[in-house]
Amino acid sequence: MTPEDRIAELRDQVAHHNRQYHELDDPEIPDGDYDVLVAELRRLEAEHPELAQPDSPAQAVGGPASTAFAPVVHGTPMTSLDNAMHAGELEAWGQRVLRGLDGATPRFVCELKIDGVAMSLRYEHGRYVRAATRGDGRVGEDVTANVRTVEVVPDQLVAGGPLSAAGVPDVLEVRGEIYMPTSSFDALNAAADQTGDRRFVNPRNAAAGSLRQKDPSITAQRHLAFWSYQVGEVSGASPTFTCHTDTLDYLAELGLPVNPEVRSFVALDEVLAHCLHWQEHRHDLDYEIDGVVIKLDDLAQRELLGFTSRAPRWAIAYKFPPEERTTRLADIHVSIGRTGRATPFAVLDPVFVGGSTVSMATLHNQDQVRLKDVRPGDTVVVRKAGDVIPEVVGPVLALRPEHSEPWEFPTTCSCPLSSTLVRLEGEADTRCIEPTCPYQRDQRVIYWASRGAMDIEGLGERTVTQLTARELVTDPSDLYVLTADQVETLEGFARPSAEKLVAAIAESAHRPVARVLTALGIKHLGPAASEALAAGFGTVERVMAAPPEALAEIDGVGAVIARSISEWAAKESNQAFLARLRAAGVDLGSEEAAAAAAAERAAVPKVLEGKTVVVTGTLPGYTRDEAESAITSRGGKSPGSVSSKTYAVVVGESPGASKLTKAEQLGIPMLDAAGFGRLLETGELPETTSTETTSTETTSI
Ligand code: IVH
Repeated sequence: MTPEDRIAELRDQVAHHNRQYHELDDPEIPDGDYDVLVAELRRLEAEHPELAQPDSPAQAVGGPASTAFAPVVHGTPMTSLDNAMHAGELEAWGQRVLRGLDGATPRFVCELKIDGVAMSLRYEHGRYVRAATRGDGRVGEDVTANVRTVEVVPDQLVAGGPLSAAGVPDVLEVRGEIYMPTSSFDALNAAADQTGDRRFVNPRNAAAGSLRQKDPSITAQRHLAFWSYQVGEVSGASPTFTCHTDTLDYLAELGLPVNPEVRSFVALDEVLAHCLHWQEHRHDLDYEIDGVVIKLDDLAQRELLGFTSRAPRWAIAYKFPPEERTTRLADIHVSIGRTGRATPFAVLDPVFVGGSTVSMATLHNQDQVRLKDVRPGDTVVVRKAGDVIPEVVGPVLALRPEHSEPWEFPTTCSCPLSSTLVRLEGEADTRCIEPTCPYQRDQRVIYWASRGAMDIEGLGERTVTQLTARELVTDPSDLYVLTADQVETLEGFARPSAEKLVAAIAESAHRPVARVLTALGIKHLGPAASEALAAGFGTVERVMAAPPEALAEIDGVGAVIARSISEWAAKESNQAFLARLRAAGVDLGSEEAAAAAAAERAAVPKVLEGKTVVVTGTLPGYTRDEAESAITSRGGKSPGSVSSKTYAVVVGESPGASKLTKAEQLGIPMLDAAGFGRLLETGELPETTSTETTSTETTSI
C-alpha cells in the first residue's frame, strides 16, 4: 500500500472512531487501539508533508457537538493535550520546554489525568449558569441542567480565603472533568445485569451517556462527580496569580472540587518517577485515570511557550500503556485441570496490552462464553489491568464476520480417550469424569512439581508432558525413580541438566508434610489448610485415617475440605498412590517426628489464646511462615489482613502499606521486632506501642 493510500485509510478510520466516541458515545475500539491509529497517521503525515491536510482527523480536538443539545461557542477554545506515550517522549517534551524557556528553570505541576468528559462551567457573580461539553474545542453542547444535578458542582461560589479576597469574579469559567466513580459504575452495570439493560463499556463512556440524558433526573441517579483543573474566561474581581498551583488553590477556596493528588517537581526524572508511581497505583483510586498531566507552573512561562494549532506547548499528557486492546480471537479451546474441570480459553493473536504480550485468556466456563458471546474469528477487546489475569471483555460486533455462529461447548474431551464432558445440574463447571484421563494425569504431575506444592525446580509442563507421553511417569511417585539416563533423552536436556533435575526431584522428597498434603491436589485443600492439618496430625497417613469430624475441628479446615479429604482417602487408587509415594522415599511424616512436634507444641505456653496478631514485612530471625507459626503455636491466629478484631500488628521491614494504613485507621497497636519477642513470651503488649507510622509507603504522593 502506498503511504498515500494508507493515510487515506487511516483518516477514514480515525474519523469513524471519532464519531463513534464523541458523537454517539458508542466506541467500537478501546482508546489504546485508537491512539495507535492516530499515532501512525500523525507519523505518516509528518513524513509526507505534501499529503498533509488541515482538516485531517489527526488534527481534530474531539468531535462536533451533537444536535440534540443547544450549541455553546467557547469564548476561549477548549484545546486538547499532546500525548507522551512513553518516557522518551516525555523527556523530549521536557527538552523542548527547556529550549523554549531559554535557560529559565521550569517547575512542573503534575495532576492526574482523569478519564472523564471535559467540561466548562460558567459562573456569573458566583452563580452557576451554564455547563458545556468541549465538542470540537470551539463549539460544545449545553448540558447545564444535567450538570446541575452533580452533587459536588456548587450552585453558588463563595469567596473564602486570601486568594479570593477581592470577592467572586463577575464571570468565571472553570474547566475540568466530569467523571463517574468506579463504584458508581460497578453499581450501574450490576443494575443493568438485573434488568437486562445494556452494560456500559467503561466509566468514561457511562459518564458521557449520563450527560446526554434528556431527563436530568436520570443524570442525577448516575452519581457523577467533577474535578476542576483549569480556569478559562475570568472578568471582574479577577484574581492575579503568577502560577498554576495558586489557580488550583483559588478554585478550592471558591468551593470547587480540586483533586488532592497534585505534586510539583523541578527535575524531569522526578516527574517521570511520579508518572510511573501512578501507572502502578492507578487502580487504588475510586475513579479511572489514564495518565498524568504535566503542566508548567509559572504562568508567564506558559505565555512564552504558547500553543500549537491543537494543544498547549506548556503541558503534556503522559499516557499509561493501554490496558485494553483489540485482537482476533483465533479459536476457543478447552483445557482439563487436575480435578477434571473443563475450562474454555481464548486463543488470541498475540497482542501487547497491560505491559505484556497476551496470546491466551481464560473464558472461565460455559455460561461466561454464552454471556459474552465471543466466537472464533471475532475481533475481541482484551483487557489486562495490573497484575490481574488477562480477560476477554467482549466482541467488537461491528467487525464480526458474516455467517458466524455462536460457539458450542464440546461434549467430548480432545484427549485420545475422547471421554465425555458432563455438566451436572446446578453446577457452573463442566467436567471430565474419566479417572484415567491423560490430561488430568499430566496436570496432577505438573501441580505436584509446582512452586506452592513440592517446588521441583526445572520440572515444568513441557518436561512433564514428555515424561508422561513416554510412559516414564504415570503419577508423581514415578518421578522419584527416574534416572539421569532417562531424563537425558528428553528434548531440551543434556547430561548436566538431567542430573540437576534428578537431584531436584530427590531433594523434594523431604519437603514438610504440609507441602505433600497440598501437592496431592485434593479438591479444596490449599496450602493454609494443609499447614493446619500437618500441625494437628503430623503425618499424611494420620490425616487420611482421621474421620471428617476430627479434620473439621482443626482451625482453618471446614466441613467442605474435611469431606473432600475423606472422599479422596476412601478411594483405593489413592491409597495405592500413597503407598507408592512412601515406597519411593517421599517423606509422609514419621510417628516419632509427629510425637516430638506434639510434645513441643504442648510445652509452648498458650499466651496468645484467642488473640489475633497480624505480621507485615520481614522480621529479623524469622521467615514469614516461622513468624506465623510462632503465633499459632501459642494459641493465637495470624491472618493476612487487619481488622477491628486484630490485637496487634507486628511491623517488620518493608511492611505492606494497606495493612499499616488500616491499623492506623483502627488504632491497632503496632509492635517492632523487640515488641514481638516480648509478646511471644508474655502475650502482653509493651507499655508504649505506636499507632502511627512514619513509613513513606503509606503517605500517598
Ligand atoms: S488540562 C489546555 N488537566 O485530558 C489544557 N486535562 O487528553 C487542557 N484531562 O482535554 C487540559 N485530566 O479532557 C487537563 N488534570 C487534567 C486533566 C485533563 C483529564 C483531559 C481533558 C483534556 C484531555 C486531553
